Amino acid sequence: MQYSVQLIRSNFIFSYCFKCVWLVFLVQFSSKMAAVGSNGSETSWWSDVEMGPADPILGVTEAFRRDTNPKKINLGVGAYRDDDGKPYVLPSVLKAEEILAAEKPDKEYAPIQGFPDFCKLSAQLALGEDSVHLKNETAVTVQGISGTGSLTIGARFIKAFFPGVKCVWIPIPTWGNHIKVFTQAGLEVKQYRYYDPNTCGFDYQGALEDIKNIPQRSVILLHACAHNPTGVDPKPEQWKEISKIVKDRQLFPFFDMAYQGFASGNVSKDAFAVRSFLEDGHQVALAQSFAKNMGLYGERAGALTLTTASKEESVRVLSQLKIVIRPLYSSPPIHGVRLVTKILSDPELKAQWLCEVKGMAERIISMRALLKEQLLKKGSARNWSHITDQIGMFCFTGLNPAQVERLTNDFHIYLTKDGRISMAGVSTKNAEYIANAIHEVTKA
Ligand SMILES: Cc1ncc(COP(=O)(O)O)c(C=O)c1O
Repeated sequence: MQYSVQLIRSNFIFSYCFKCVWLVFLVQFSSKMAAVGSNGSETSWWSDVEMGPADPILGVTEAFRRDTNPKKINLGVGAYRDDDGKPYVLPSVLKAEEILAAEKPDKEYAPIQGFPDFCKLSAQLALGEDSVHLKNETAVTVQGISGTGSLTIGARFIKAFFPGVKCVWIPIPTWGNHIKVFTQAGLEVKQYRYYDPNTCGFDYQGALEDIKNIPQRSVILLHACAHNPTGVDPKPEQWKEISKIVKDRQLFPFFDMAYQGFASGNVSKDAFAVRSFLEDGHQVALAQSFAKNMGLYGERAGALTLTTASKEESVRVLSQLKIVIRPLYSSPPIHGVRLVTKILSDPELKAQWLCEVKGMAERIISMRALLKEQLLKKGSARNWSHITDQIGMFCFTGLNPAQVERLTNDFHIYLTKDGRISMAGVSTKNAEYIANAIHEVTKA
């Protein structure tokens, strides 16, 4: 009897231990399996992926968000703000939204190249309503995912079909994304002088010298207006000279026009460079964005135009642009471009929009004057005339990285390390605070 009780007990202990060991094995095995990638090795497919650096511009906004100081100011972001520092939805856009909502359009796919009305109206806005290219059908326009996507389509088309040197010459400095857009498309990127840090202005002689030495039949990228990040644009007579040299060198001009209307407040004036190159007989590429001038940032409305030699050539070029676009995203988004189309096709709404663009540009211009005035009032002995000489959304202040760091650490003012500030972040309420901070970090 005692023997059988002992047997039952030892059986029980044995089976209990066995179950425990089995459980531990299972837990260990399953956690090991979770760590094993589907390649069957001990690691994940992505175990060698290194941490990438934060985007230099979006990283500034992230740091700004983390700061709990009530005085903090974000001068890094390239989006328009009203005098209360709030994002601004244009009243003309709100009206277009209402009209569109009442029409209840369907949500079918747009054609690969985008909506024809949008493409036509975008090209008209950039090239001018009386453009011979539009009349002769020697301009091909496709919808792009805002300015970046339009540049990308252009870059890929150049990679596939440009018969010259597949190297794009970009200004020093330029919008950071340009280098990535062109290199990811498989193009070589080289630089020409543009900005003079001594004058905080245009290095005209340096630019001319460098452009004269660009290998013939290369591509040159030009900011059509409101150069980002410097806010430095060539004067009309300087554009004329640049056009002449670009022609002599047989370069292909690729215009990036992300700020039409934002520089001067006048969309035609800001299209001067593009239109005068076309008058001079250049064949051009042009990327347009409606992010800034219509405040349609997240709607991603933009366009790419290529001018051609004939209507028949336009048809061939369009066919290949569609082949470039199709594997990228099949067909473009529809809502933002419907708003643009409503605004540009309705004379009353267009007139209202033109006033609103002017209003945004004028507020920025007046903030430049106010910031300079406040710096002088604070007793700064520096020459700040570049603040009002520069144009568009950005001001290249000339502050060095150490001064930028002090602005952020001591005054909670956020900007990119290159000293660029978004003038749209300056208001009547914070201009004095910003001027005081800049004076503090720049005085000897
Ligand atoms: C010079 C330049 N090009 C293109 C873009 C493209 O902007 P998006 O893709 O938002 O239209 C920007 C935006 O900041 C820009 O500054």
